[in-house]
Amino acid sequence: MRKTTFGGAAAAALAFALGAGAPALADEDWEFAPLPRGEGAEDTYYACIACHSLRTVTNGAYSRRVWDELLDWMVEEHGMPELDPEEREIILDYLATHLGEDSRDG
Ligand code: HEC
Repeated sequence: MRKTTFGGAAAAALAFALGAGAPALADEDWEFAPLPRGEGAEDTYYACIACHSLRTVTNGAYSRRVWDELLDWMVEEHGMPELDPEEREIILDYLATHLGEDSRDG
C-alpha cells in the first residue's frame, strides 16, 4: 500500500471543522435538542415543552430582562405554572447565556 499523509490531514481538518464550526442546533444526539447544550437546558426543556415546541424558544434571542418578561407573559397570559424562584433563576441563566440577545447566529 502506498503511504500518504492525506488521510491524516483530512481527518484533522474534519475534526477541526466539527469542533469549531458545528452549529449547536444541529446536535441530534442531544436529548434536549433543539436547545443548545448547557447547564439548565433540562429544566428549560421540561418547563417549556408542555405547550409549544422548543423551536419557539430557540427562535428567540433576548436579553435576560426580556426573557424575564417573557416568562411573566407565559405565566400571566398563557397559563404557565409559576416557576419556583430557584428554578426560574436556573432557566433565566440558561436562556440569557445560550439564547441571549447576541447569540443569534447569522
Ligand atoms: C402553559 C403553556 C406555556 C408554557 C408552559 C410555555 N409557554 Fe411559551 N408560549 C405559550 C403560548 C400559548 C405562546 C403563543 C403561541 C405560540 O407561539 O405557540 C407562547 C409563545 C412563546 C414565545 C414566542 C413569543 C413571541 O415572540 O411570539 C416564546 C419565546 C416563549 N413562548 C417562551 C417560552 C419559554 C422560554 C417557556 C419555558 C420557560 C415557555 N414559553 C413555556 C404558552 C406556553
